[in-house]
Amino acid sequence: MNQEDAKAPNAPQTPDSDAEGKPQPPAAGAGTPRAAREPAQPAGDSGSAAGSPEKPAPATSAPAKPAAADTGGQRPPAAARARAAGARPAAGARAARAAAGADVPSTAAISVGGGAAAAAAAGGDVSRRGFLSWISAGWLAFAALTTGTLIGTVRFLFPNVLFEPPQTFRAGLPEEYTVGNVSTRFKDQFAVWIVRTPAEIYVLSTVCTHLGCTPNWLEGEQKFKCPCHGSGFRKTGINFEGPAPRPLERYKVSLADDGQILVDKTRKYQWEKGEWTDPESFLAV
Ligand code: FES
Repeated sequence: MNQEDAKAPNAPQTPDSDAEGKPQPPAAGAGTPRAAREPAQPAGDSGSAAGSPEKPAPATSAPAKPAAADTGGQRPPAAARARAAGARPAAGARAARAAAGADVPSTAAISVGGGAAAAAAAGGDVSRRGFLSWISAGWLAFAALTTGTLIGTVRFLFPNVLFEPPQTFRAGLPEEYTVGNVSTRFKDQFAVWIVRTPAEIYVLSTVCTHLGCTPNWLEGEQKFKCPCHGSGFRKTGINFEGPAPRPLERYKVSLADDGQILVDKTRKYQWEKGEWTDPESFLAV
């Protein structure tokens, strides 16, 4: 029996050959020595690396203390310990500030968001209030326009009324007038002169017969002089100079029940028409 026969019957086939003796590629991890598959241990490790197949420590493990690593396990100096002790509170303070900083933006965001909501609500109120104000102003303007139109219409229905002094008035007692004088007492109020002679009282109109101006009584010249075109009238009313075409007019005069002189301007008497002889055109005294 040769050497191949001695290991052929029951000997397990190696992964390097198949049943026909052809070499096969090695399977991943199969048949490979464990020491060859595992990474090499760092040289600085303890004696386990010298042949121990233990897995290396994961990379996420806590880092070794530099002081201990540098000192080879000896106690670090006091200054280093003090710096390390001071670094931890500083890191805690940074963490606290980070936490606080994380809260501040969230609070500010809440505040800003609330402010925006309040501003939006306020803006909505303002616009609504402004809209209502415009509506009210429009209604007020419409009411004012309607009222003005109504007032104008009513005013149009009633024509202007010229308020004139009464055409009939009492001029006092005859004894109040001096014989031979021209009274201007009612010139401005009733536009008449009252003249008393020894025999009668008559009432002259103050309207110039030329173009309607009001003459003035000139006591020194004993005449009426029109300031417009120079017409002159005697005390009796007869025109004697200027453009006046005819004498002044007279009004009806009578004696009232109470003994006063009663003047009626609705009745006129003209000399050119021979009306001055009418007994109502003078008051005999
Ligand atoms: Fe009196 Fe012309 S109006 S003179």
